[in-house]
Amino acid sequence: MTHDIRNIVILTGAGISAESGLATFRGPDGLWEGHRVEDVCTPEALARDPVLVHRFYDERRAKLADVQPNAAHEALAALDASWGDDLLIVTQNVDDLHERAGARRLIHMHGELRSALCVACGKAVSWGDPLPPGSSCTGCAAPRLRPDIVFFGEMPYRMDRIYAALEQADLFVSIGTSGAVYPAAGFVQTARHAGAHTIELNLDPSAGSALFDESRLGPATLLVPDLVRTLLS
Ligand code: APR
Repeated sequence: MTHDIRNIVILTGAGISAESGLATFRGPDGLWEGHRVEDVCTPEALARDPVLVHRFYDERRAKLADVQPNAAHEALAALDASWGDDLLIVTQNVDDLHERAGARRLIHMHGELRSALCVACGKAVSWGDPLPPGSSCTGCAAPRLRPDIVFFGEMPYRMDRIYAALEQADLFVSIGTSGAVYPAAGFVQTARHAGAHTIELNLDPSAGSALFDESRLGPATLLVPDLVRTLLS
C-alpha cells in the first residue's frame, strides 16, 4: 500500500477523541451529552435559546482541561512532523486534541471550542473562558460573540483548500467518523475520483464503508499508530 504515496489527506471525527474521554455525537443514546444535536447545533437553536447553546459549548470547552490527546492523535502528529506539507489533516472535531498532540497541518472544518466568532465583524478570536451571550468582540468591541462552531445548515470552513487537497490525494484515510454528515461524508468519493487509495479506520463500519478500498475495524489508538508506522517505514 505504501507504493508511491505522496499526497495524503486524513479526515478525523469524534471517534478519534473517544478514547481520550470525549463523547461522540451519535452515542448509544443518540444524544450528544444529553442533548439532541439539532437542539444545540443549529442557528435556530442559538436564536431560540442562546443561554442554553452558549452554556452547552462552555461545558464542552471546560471539559478540554480534563482530557489528553491519545495515541492516535500523537501518531498523526508524528506523521505531520515527518511527512511535511504533502499531508493535510481535516478534522470535524471541535476539540483541541490534535493541536495539543503537536499536529500543525490541520483544518477544523466544523470550527473550534477554543474560538469565538463575532457576528458583527466576522472575526474569529481565540477564546478559552466561558462565553456568555453578549460577550464583546476583542476586535470590533460589538457584544456579538458566539461559539465558533459550524452549525447544521452553515458552510464548513476552508472547503476550497480541502477539495484542492482531495483532488491531489494519493491516499485518503478516514478515522473515527460515522459518515453521517456531509460534506465530510462525501470526501471519500472525491478522493476516489482523484485515484487515491482510500482507507477507513473505525470502531464500527461507517455509512460509507463500502466506498473505501480498505475498512479496518478497531479502536483508533491501535489502528492509527499501526498505519503511521507503515507509512513511515
Ligand atoms: N476508535 C475509532 N472509532 C471510534 C471509536 C474509537 N475508539 N469510538 C467510536 N468510534 C466511531 C464510531 O463507530 C462512529 O462511527 O466514531 C464514529 C463517531 O461518529 P459520530 O458520533 O457520528 O461523530 P462524527 O462522525 O465525528 O460526526 C460528524 O456530525 O454532529 C455533527 O458536527 C458534528 O462533527 C460532527 C459531525
